[in-house]
Amino acid sequence: MKISIIGAGNVGATTALRIAQSNLGKVVLYDIVKGLAQGKCFDMDDARAILKNDYDLTGTDDIHQLRNSDIVVITAGLARKPGMTREDLLSKNTQILKGICQNLKNLCPEAIIIIVTNPLDLMTYAAIKLTGFDPKRVLGMGITLDASRFANLISKELGVPVTDIEAVVIGTHGEGMMPLASQTKVKGKLLTDLVHPDKALDLVKRTGLRGAEIVGLLGSGSAYYAPSAAIAGLVEAIASGKTVVRGVSAYLNGEYGIKDVCIGTLCEIGKNGIEKILEVKLNSEEKAAFLKSAESLKTQNKNNPL
Ligand code: NAI
Ligand code: 2OP
Repeated sequence: MKISIIGAGNVGATTALRIAQSNLGKVVLYDIVKGLAQGKCFDMDDARAILKNDYDLTGTDDIHQLRNSDIVVITAGLARKPGMTREDLLSKNTQILKGICQNLKNLCPEAIIIIVTNPLDLMTYAAIKLTGFDPKRVLGMGITLDASRFANLISKELGVPVTDIEAVVIGTHGEGMMPLASQTKVKGKLLTDLVHPDKALDLVKRTGLRGAEIVGLLGSGSAYYAPSAAIAGLVEAIASGKTVVRGVSAYLNGEYGIKDVCIGTLCEIGKNGIEKILEVKLNSEEKAAFLKSAESLKTQNKNNPL
């Protein structure tokens, strides 16, 4: 199994190390900046003796080293900086994605692609259009992370282990994020039956703001420890073939009555990428919010020239 990661920044490099240490296969870390991925991988390799782990990790600035990858994770791109609009990020990262997708079509036409670069749902859609790959082989990691954040905040609030919590988040990895208190369970009991509605709402809001909270504290850059764990979890499901249910940005073709947009919903993730898109049962208010986000994404996709 060959697993390649594009972008050796905070998210990409941390992801490479996590995946390498899990011994899921041969890992290649690529960055356009000369020497960056190679230098980081030399450093990671130097830990093999201490860790007593012969993981297989290569850093490169030559994209041809990605040839015949089975899984490709795309983390390349800019994160928002002060003074940058979302539109700046969208057009710059679309340009970066364009070049990458062109290469992937030639170098690894059979690969399963995990998109991480923001704005996540728009980049996932763009990657499908730019590669022409079967949409089941292109998924976006965003609400995977948001569900873990929701579970963490619930765990801290209620003083229960995270392993007791099944948190459900759908929608966009952004303003249209929908942490669903009504579907989230703590030891099999609905969160809404365990906490006051104000508390549930507070946990939902804090989940939506968690990424920005971390950016504010870091001062520069954004989160990468939890994002890399979320990516590694998806890679493990695909590489091992042990199907798991996770929230990812998936291309909808009629699910929820929506077509031709990528948005977060629960999916079965396994050896073929998205094995099955699951429709979460929503009440009328939740459904309306989900449809509104999907419509907004559609407009943004239309206004994003590829
Ligand atoms: P970073 O700035 O640390 O790393 C980005 C890397 O991409 C840099 O090393 C840069 O040289 C590289 N790069 C730029 N153009 C490239 C190209 N054409 N080919 C190869 N590499 C290229 O940023 P970080 O923190 O790693 O974040 C990366 C992206 O992931 C950002 O767009 C960020 O917003 C997004 N992100 C998404 C998350 C999610 O849940 N979907 C979570 C965290 C970050
Ligand atoms: C996050 O949610 C930046 O999308 C990234 O932390």
